[in-house]
Amino acid sequence: MKRGHWSMAALLAGALGSALVGCGGGGDEPVAAADFGETLFQDARLSDSTFNRFSCATCHVTTPETPAGRIDSGPSLYNVAARPDWWGGDETHLLDAVNFCYLNFMRGVTKLEAEEPRSRALYEYLSRISPDAQAPALPFTVVKDIEDVPRGDAVRGEAVYRAACQNCHGATHTGEGRLTELASVLPEVTQEYDRLFPGIPHARVVIEKVRHGAFFGVGGSMPPYSREALSDADLGALLGYLGL
Ligand code: HEC
Ligand code: HEC
Repeated sequence: MKRGHWSMAALLAGALGSALVGCGGGGDEPVAAADFGETLFQDARLSDSTFNRFSCATCHVTTPETPAGRIDSGPSLYNVAARPDWWGGDETHLLDAVNFCYLNFMRGVTKLEAEEPRSRALYEYLSRISPDAQAPALPFTVVKDIEDVPRGDAVRGEAVYRAACQNCHGATHTGEGRLTELASVLPEVTQEYDRLFPGIPHARVVIEKVRHGAFFGVGGSMPPYSREALSDADLGALLGYLGL
């Protein structure tokens, strides 16, 4: 019953306790909690920051197969509670893995605590979308050293842009429909790069942003794309489409 290693005993005691007590009658509490968790999963207001526009669902699908037309930085969370560890083995408690996203991408000010009703509800939801008893940990390969990639077909690149970038950045050249005003207009943002990053090819700055997101001193709140999330071939096609 330690499934998912959701760290704190208090949470497990609460969640499982109510499930067991519920056997005799009622028993709706975990279901209601899972429903509430699903609502939280899809709601950017889970974060207490007024600058945040991301929900968990912005970056994660919950289905076994990724639907066509979506390329997300985050992996599918189907079976997430059945995995032995997360973030390429860096996190061994599910709530810590969630808080990594919550604090770094959703501008959560203080982490979600295990005893909070919100955390318990999220856990019930993540358990519900984890039907298997065990599932393998996912590979997560961070591209640390940035290298140029061969440019690919612009038509494919447009499809990659729509699937990977458009939800947050909106339409190219205008940003129309973007999720947040903070997301730069692509590729126009690169016009600043001669001043900001003199001597560095524009494409290289973009590759670094995509591969490192807010990390490795880059800053911001954009998620990084691992090799598993985005191949160099798709990245090269995207750069071709953006004319970089
Ligand atoms: C802005 C994008 C973004 C948001 C928002 C986000 N995540 Fe993530 N998440 C990621 C990325 C990127 C990874 C790391 C990719 C990897 O481990 O393969 C990740 C990894 C995870 C993992 C570890 C998966 C694994 O098996 O290694 C969990 C669990 C997770 N996220 C849950 C959540 C939950 C729950 C929320 C909402 C509270 C959330 N995330 C919000 C991008 C995001
Ligand atoms: C979950 C939302 C999200 C997704 C998906 C996303 N971005 Fe971003 N991106 C942002 C935000 C927010 C910023 C501004 C804050 C920052 O720099 O992190 C940004 C900034 C950028 C910048 C400007 C960096 C700078 O400082 O000049 C580039 C370039 C960029 N994104 C490229 C991309 C590309 C290419 C994709 C698709 C592969 C993509 N982004 C997907 C949210 C996103």
